Amino acid sequence: MLTTDETGLNRAADILRDGGLVAFPTETVYGLGADACNGLAVARIFQAKGRPSFNPLIVHVATLEMAQGIAVFDDTALRLASAFWPGPLTLVLPLRPEAGLSPLVTAGLPTIGLRLPDSETAQRLLATFNGPVAAPSANPSGKISPTTARHVADGLSGKINAILDAGPCAVGLESTIIGFDPAPVLLRPGGLPVEAVKACLGSPLMAHEPNETPSAPGQLSSHYAPTAPLRLNAKTKKAGELKLGFGPDDQADLNLSPTGDLVEAAANLFTHLHALDAKGAPIAVAPIPNKGLGIAINDRLKRAAAPRP
Ligand code: TXA
Ligand code: MG
Repeated sequence: MLTTDETGLNRAADILRDGGLVAFPTETVYGLGADACNGLAVARIFQAKGRPSFNPLIVHVATLEMAQGIAVFDDTALRLASAFWPGPLTLVLPLRPEAGLSPLVTAGLPTIGLRLPDSETAQRLLATFNGPVAAPSANPSGKISPTTARHVADGLSGKINAILDAGPCAVGLESTIIGFDPAPVLLRPGGLPVEAVKACLGSPLMAHEPNETPSAPGQLSSHYAPTAPLRLNAKTKKAGELKLGFGPDDQADLNLSPTGDLVEAAANLFTHLHALDAKGAPIAVAPIPNKGLGIAINDRLKRAAAPRP
């Protein structure tokens, strides 16, 4: 574990420069970072996560200028970046081949997912390292995304070089991913509500067709699976089940938000799933309203409940 003072950040940046892996906090979830220009370092991410190698990774940047050196921004992309960066928004844009990124980062795709995270620790690390950092969520492949340094250690301890600990993540859901087809397409709902994206665009946002080959493999079902089976839209709990509540609920073993606040529920989602999953019993999940951040929460819950391959 590294602390977020200058010594810790310098140590983390040195590890990245040496091709090592550093888990670091962002406002969404903890990321597992590597130097995006170092192919070996990027390969270590897949190794540590046990992740299928066809998944392209999100690259984190310190500034919009750094992002523009890596990918081509059209007017729409610039508008979204200006409105929501730093923040929980990833833009999938045409890659500049001359940027020198490892092809492993994009899994051979001509596009790249970029984001500028709204976390002081992440920004200081990116500024100290002074280069693009590839970072998927810092969990073993197929497990729940980590929202605390402890979650990262539980899943990846011994497989990575360091963890920067800055406490729990504020948003608690991965970033919203927008691609361009060339019109904007929602590739993954996430921590930035789609309504905010639509309002900024002033035009409709196409939904990704779930039956197409997933261009965001995070959309593969069971990507976010806990070990325990999940039963969704459960109003009451059956014998032997644990209950994940939402809103006032006497039966809840843990509650995403006793007051029914979707922002609070998003921040608690992975933490509560981790905690209930650790008890080893089936989990009944209360109905969550399908609006605002509830859309992303239900998307994650559906994956978590999907049959395992
Ligand atoms: O909030 C987040 O986005 C977190 C934090 C650490 O930044 N990161 C994250 O990364 O969730 P990851 O690798 O677990 O999920 C990234 C998603 C994957 O589904 C990946 O396939 C998609 O983004 N993606 C990345 N580059 C892409 C590309 N060029 N085209 C389509 N999808 C892409
Ligand atoms: Mg992930």
